[in-house]
Parts: sequence; C-alpha cells; structure tokens
Amino acid sequence: MSPTDAIKLNPFILAPMAGITDHAFRSFMKKLETSVVVTELVSANGIEYKSERTMKLMSYDESQRPIGVQLFGEEPEILARAAQVAESEGCDFIDLNFGCPVPKVVKKGAGSAMLKDPVRLQQVLAAVKGAVKIPVTIKIRTGWDANSRNAVEITNIAYNEGISWVAIHGRTRAQGYSGTADWNFISEVKSKSKLPIIGNGDIITPQQAVFRMKESGCDGVMIGRGCLKNPFIFMDALSLWKNEPIKSMNRDYVSIFNNLKSEIVSHCDEHITGIQLRKFAAWFSTGYSGAAQFRKNLFQTKSNEEIILLANEFFANISNIEQEDTSQEDFLMGGHG
Ligand SMILES: Cc1cc2nc3c(=O)[nH]c(=O)nc-3n(C[C@H](O)[C@H](O)[C@H](O)COP(=O)(O)O)c2cc1C
Repeated sequence: MSPTDAIKLNPFILAPMAGITDHAFRSFMKKLETSVVVTELVSANGIEYKSERTMKLMSYDESQRPIGVQLFGEEPEILARAAQVAESEGCDFIDLNFGCPVPKVVKKGAGSAMLKDPVRLQQVLAAVKGAVKIPVTIKIRTGWDANSRNAVEITNIAYNEGISWVAIHGRTRAQGYSGTADWNFISEVKSKSKLPIIGNGDIITPQQAVFRMKESGCDGVMIGRGCLKNPFIFMDALSLWKNEPIKSMNRDYVSIFNNLKSEIVSHCDEHITGIQLRKFAAWFSTGYSGAAQFRKNLFQTKSNEEIILLANEFFANISNIEQEDTSQEDFLMGGHG
C-alpha cells in the first residue's frame, strides 16, 4: 500500500526520531496501531560509502509496511544514488529530511539548511524523484527563521516535482525545540497546498491528535515525543477518530514493556539493549507515583537482567488512574528534525 493510501485508513504517523525509532521500536509501535513509519535519518554519504552502521539503519521487517527510509545529505546526485539503494533494499517510499537543525548537518547545507536554498532543494527533489519509482515525501520545518517562513513556497516546489506529501514540524530551525509548534501556520500551509500535508509538533494526548487533525484540516499528523510517555497514543487517537471506545483503559505496562524488550533483544547487541531498556522504562514510568525513585534505581542497575526485573516490578504496581500530567515539563528538547 502506498503511504498516501495508508494515511487515509489511519492518519496517525510515528515521527522519525534518531536513536529511538529504530527497527525494534517501529515493530513495537506497529503493534500499538501506529500508521506509516519512517526510519530515523540515514546519511546519503554513509550509503555511498556502504558504511555498515548506516546500512543497518535501513533494516525493517514486513510488519512495518509501508515503511519509508529517511535520507539526509547535500548533494543531489549522492542523494539520488542513496535513494536507489534504499529502493533496491525494498522500502516503500523515500522521505527526505529538510528539518534537521543540528549544526553538524546544517553546516554542510543539509537538513533544514536546504530551506534557505530553494533552488538546491528543487534540484534534490528532481534528482531523487527521477532516480526511483517509489513515492518520495519530504519533512520540513516552517522555515529557517522567523523572517523566512517559506513552507508554502517549499510545498509548491514539492508539488511541481511530484512529491507525495509534505510533513511540517511547526517550528523554525532557529527555534530548535523551544516555544510551541505553530499549528495556525501549519493550517495556513494546508489551506494553500495542493499536496497532502502532515502536521507535526507537541501532540501529547490522543485527544490533541484528533483535535489537530480536525482543526488544521491536515491529511495526517506525526507524533514523536508524545508516544514515549504514552505508547498507547496512536491506538487511542485512532479509536477517537473513528468514534470507537478507547481500548487502553486498563493499561498493561508489564506486557507493553516486555513486548518492547523482546523486539530490542532481537535487534540490538547487549550494550545497546541496556541503553534502550533503561531509556524506555524511564520514559514509560513518567507521571506514575514512585517514578523518580524508579528512574534512580534504574540507572544504578549493572545488568540487563536487573533492569528487566526492576521494570517488571514497577510496572506491575502502576494503575492507569494515577498518572499525573507532566506536559509542562521540558522533555527531549533536541533532535534531528
Ligand atoms: C530525539 C529526537 C530525534 C529526532 N530525530 C529525527 C530524525 O531522525 N528525523 C526527523 O525528520 N526528525 C527527527 N526528530 C524530530 C521529530 O520527528 C519531530 O519533528 C519533533 O520531535 C516534533 O514532534 P513531537 O513534538 O511530536 O516530538 C527528532 C526528534 C527528537 C526529539
């Protein structure tokens, strides 16, 4: 199924997050009813040099379809060749990252720096589109800074180049992760665009996801950080969207954690498994009583077995009712998009 057909059935999309939305997490989230998934950003130069680490970022399984490989880079020809490699590995679409604010990336003209150079951006789109048969999508920010919010212009270029959708994180590059995502601006881009628009930024409850869909008129919304504190967010948003009862009233965090653990253990080495298990257990515990002490204990564990025991003990004792609202706290204020 094409990504554009998939979002007609389920418009709630997992946002790409480097170091988080890897093979294991995407498989886990698919079972919790996320729609389309995209890999974390993959370096086109890394693919050119056949870096083993880079190639591993493109791994997926059939449960993840439709799956997009997200590429970043600055050279149209290298991006085009990288897209051909990703296509030959079997992914369903290519997503291009024009939103990454990280200095190391923008210094070379990649990521959100492309928004400052629409001519080059157009060359990249033409080169990549011409190189592959599968759909190509893009992910952008509203613009480089407050004086150059050119998402409408970029969306027009994307339309002319045959791009399938534009996902917009509602902040400028200059904002980083500060302030709030500007959904009025996203709605404005949507109202002026002939392409499907995916809105993104600061959605942390299923109710907000549905509200943003309705209010902005977007064709889909992407949710990133919100699913790390509430992995049920996609499932519940989809139920609300379809006017069906919410399924996650009795949240079984023990099963949830152990499902994720199985995915991580199958796809990561022991060291990375430890890092990921600690991270996700800490995030999932957010807002539940005893979470601060749990996190402290978690980061003192010495083996993966200890992490798993501790997490099982904590999650067996939480109940849905007692989760506090922690939406006012800063959370993961940095990333590649
Ligand atoms: C840790 C982290 C890593 C990220 N990595 C990527 C990435 O690889 N590619 C990308 O397009 N966006 C990346 N992003 C941006 C997210 O996709 C999303 O646009 C942003 O977090 C805003 O959405 P949210 O408020 O729902 O999290 C990353 C964000 C975070 C927090």
